[in-house]
Amino acid sequence: MIGNVIVGQSGGPTSVINSSLLGVFKTAKDRGAKKIYGMLHGIKGLLDDQYVDLAEKIKTDIDIDLLKRTPSSYLGSCRYKLPEIEGNEETYQKIFAKLDVLGIKYFFYIGGNDSMDTIKQLSDYAALVHSDISFMGVPKTIDNDLAVTDHTPGFGSAAKYIAATVKEIIRDGLVYDYPTITIVEIMGRNAGWLTASAALAKGEDCEGVDMIYLPEKVFDIDKFMARVRKISVAGHSMVIAVSEGIKVEDGRYVFELSDHVEFVDAFGHKQLAGSAKFLANKIGSELGIKTRAVELSTMQRCAAHMTSRTDITEAFNVGGAAVKAAFEGESGRVVVLKRISDDPYMCITETHDVHDIANVEKKVPLEWITDDDYVTDELIHYIRPLIQAELSPIMVDGLPRHLNVNF
Ligand code: F6P
Repeated sequence: MIGNVIVGQSGGPTSVINSSLLGVFKTAKDRGAKKIYGMLHGIKGLLDDQYVDLAEKIKTDIDIDLLKRTPSSYLGSCRYKLPEIEGNEETYQKIFAKLDVLGIKYFFYIGGNDSMDTIKQLSDYAALVHSDISFMGVPKTIDNDLAVTDHTPGFGSAAKYIAATVKEIIRDGLVYDYPTITIVEIMGRNAGWLTASAALAKGEDCEGVDMIYLPEKVFDIDKFMARVRKISVAGHSMVIAVSEGIKVEDGRYVFELSDHVEFVDAFGHKQLAGSAKFLANKIGSELGIKTRAVELSTMQRCAAHMTSRTDITEAFNVGGAAVKAAFEGESGRVVVLKRISDDPYMCITETHDVHDIANVEKKVPLEWITDDDYVTDELIHYIRPLIQAELSPIMVDGLPRHLNVNF
C-alpha cells in the first residue's frame, strides 16, 4: 500500500506554483496515496505542527480550476534554512518524528535553490538513519536560476508579464514631445534571466527598451550616464530595464549607493530594491530630465492574469513527475526540465541529484549579453517559447477569483 504524502511550498512565490501543488496532489491521489498533507509555511510550519489535509481543502473540480489560477503559494511559504546535520541532530529527529506520526513515506518540496537545500539536508539525514522516506524537490522560481534544468516553472509567466508590462510602459513612456526616461527594475537577484525578458517586448508594434542591464556584468555608472546624456540630448525618450541585482565595481549593489532598507534573510540574501529609483534620481538631478522609476516588485511573480499556459502546464507536470519518481523509489532528487526540441518547442521531465542543484545559482552566460547593453537573439529565442499561450482567469464581479487556504 502507498504511504502518506506531505507537500510544502517554500521561497518566493510564483503565479504557477499552485499548479505544481496540484500536480503533486492529483498524481498522488490517482496513484492511491491515502492521505496527502500540505505543510503550512513549508518546513517551518511542519516543525510547528502546521499542516492541512489537502483532500479536505481541494474537493471539487471548481476548487481545482481556481487553485490552478491562484497566484502565490496557496500553502504559505517560508525562508527557513535547516541547520547542518552534525551537531543539530535534534532538529532532524524532531522532523522525522513528526513525519512518523503522520505516516509519511513521501515528502515533496516545491521551491528554488535555497529550498532544494532542505531536500538535500533531509535526504542526507534519511540516508544516515536508514529511513525509507523519500524526499523529492519540485522546481520553481521566477528567477530561473536553478542549475541543471532548462528553465524553472514560474519563470515563463513572470517573463510574459514583464514583456507585456514593458510594452505598455514603452507606449506610455514615449508619449511626450520632450525627452523622458523611465527605468524599470526587475527581480531575479544575481541572475539576469527575468530582466532579459524585457527584450521580448520589441516587435513590429513596439520599439523595445533602449538598454538592458543584467547583474552578470559590472554596472559602470559613468558609462551609463554618458550614454543616457547622449541619447537624451538628441531629444529621445528612453525606457531602460535594470535588474534589481546590478552591482558596481567594488561589489556593492547599485541600490546600496543611497538610503536603502537593510534586510537579510536566513540564506544571507539581502533584500534588493531601489536601483531604478537611485538611477532615476541621479539622471533627474544631474541631467535635468524628467524621470520615473518603476519597480515591478511582487507584481511580476503573482500576475496570474498574465500566466503562460506553457508554464502552468509544465508546473503541473513537474509536480506529477516528482510523485511518479518517488513512488518508484527515488529520493534526494529534483525534477528537471530537458528541452528536446526548439521548433516545435518541447520539454520532457527527468530527475537529477539534489546535491548538484541546492544552493547553486545559474547565471545568464556572458556571451548572451552584448557590449551595447542589450541581449542576444539567442537569449530571446531561449525565452520566447516559455511565454506562449494563455489561461484565462475565472472572473467574478469583474475580478479574478482565487482559492485561499485560510491560515
Ligand atoms: O526568489 C525569487 C525572488 O522573487 C527574487 O527575485 C527576489 O529577489 C526575492 O525573491 C525577494 O524575496 P522576498 O519576497 O523574500 O523579499
